[in-house]
Amino acid sequence: MTKKIHLGWFTEYGPIGWDAQDATEGDWRGPDMYQEMARICERGMFDFALFADHLGITSSFGDSIDNYIKHGLNGINHDATLLCSMVAAATNHLGVGTTVSTMLTPPYLQARQTASLDHLTKGRVAWNVVTTGNIAGFLNFGVEQPEHDARYDIADEYLELCFKLWGSWAPDAVQMDRAGGVFADPDKVKPIHHEGRYFKSRGPLNVVSSPQGRPTIIQAGSSERGKTFAARWADAVIVGAHYLDDMKAYYEEMKQRVADQGRDPAQFKVFFIVKPVLGQTEADVQRKLAALEDPPESAIFTALAALSSRMNYDLSQFNLDEPLPQIDERQIKGGQTTLSRFYTAGRKPTLREVAKQEAAGNKGGITGTPEQVADQMQHIMETVGGDGFVIRVNVHERAYMQEFVDTVVPLLQQRGLMRTVYNGTTLRDNLMEY
Ligand SMILES: Cc1cc2nc3c(=O)[nH]c(=O)nc-3n(C[C@H](O)[C@H](O)[C@H](O)COP(=O)(O)O)c2cc1C
Repeated sequence: MTKKIHLGWFTEYGPIGWDAQDATEGDWRGPDMYQEMARICERGMFDFALFADHLGITSSFGDSIDNYIKHGLNGINHDATLLCSMVAAATNHLGVGTTVSTMLTPPYLQARQTASLDHLTKGRVAWNVVTTGNIAGFLNFGVEQPEHDARYDIADEYLELCFKLWGSWAPDAVQMDRAGGVFADPDKVKPIHHEGRYFKSRGPLNVVSSPQGRPTIIQAGSSERGKTFAARWADAVIVGAHYLDDMKAYYEEMKQRVADQGRDPAQFKVFFIVKPVLGQTEADVQRKLAALEDPPESAIFTALAALSSRMNYDLSQFNLDEPLPQIDERQIKGGQTTLSRFYTAGRKPTLREVAKQEAAGNKGGITGTPEQVADQMQHIMETVGGDGFVIRVNVHERAYMQEFVDTVVPLLQQRGLMRTVYNGTTLRDNLMEY
């Protein structure tokens, strides 16, 4: 039997995309646009909607926050965790993923909020664990940004602590026995007495055991240290890769790393970030491809601002039309491998080519009519081995999501490559079903 494909929607709670010519009308600040998109994803049998988050407006590109403010770019974010509860209220099965920093959020608070949200969503919450590569959040909180790998060391202990807190209530501790006068059995609720190198907490959590026991853990780090961290803790990873050979190599490497941790690789899902170029006719597809080949200067600028923000490294210092010099990854405090996917197999792109490819939205080479897009998604999954894709579109791209869900998903379903009903009750059930 063919292995089914998982799908997710990856976006953020922010203005990004507000100025596109074909932007969906509506107010991105309120819940309605997100709720509407989430209902479309649920109609398309997606596993989850995942919201990125950042704790400050960055100045990475051109050393100024003005660029980002003027154009409504990276770092202008409202709180993803709060949005998750509104999106969950408008859906029944779709997982809702928030992004929370292990550097700038006290672990007790994070364990408590995600456990509460797991109750409110009836077991549908995911946490995208980030270590905050960009300096902006640290400047806002008034604390030093530790080095790249040290942040992952801290995150390891942070997760250890959160797992202890989530486990501090046995699943059957709550009895609510009115006749006997017992709310919960104290023998089944234990303090944790965590005293580590970075954190201390007595526990137990003051939130009772939640439907998933703990949130589904998602991760997006792809440096050496980031991959070790993901293999230890994550249920799913999201990764941007442009080429099929890179996807396959990454998939095999991560499954092996998970096995090396003594975990079952089947319980660890890899999602490739894509935005297929989709048209209903060949002519439509050609028109869309031509537009991506010739993006406006504003799209080049937006892409470079986004990459600079993710790397915490100013790309405005390089000439747009010369091959980008190889940058020593160890100098980069943010996402160290952000550019590596543009260089694979000896490619030497100019900065403009990198920006164009980024502006095209990590499309992973998937292009065509619904039939062709379904073929290519199937081909990637069969070649790589699994597990799924996250579709990266912002909330202003509702027409795109509708078209994808109405024309590609049914084809995948007809081929037995996607679910037609949600069998699980929690996000983790659905994610781990196949
Ligand atoms: C697809 C993707 C999404 C990410 N989303 C966020 C985010 O929402 N907030 C954030 O602070 N960092 C985000 N990051 C940064 C990563 O979580 C990670 O901290 C960063 O890439 C540095 O780790 P690395 O060098 O191991 O890749 C994202 C990275 C990727 C690749």
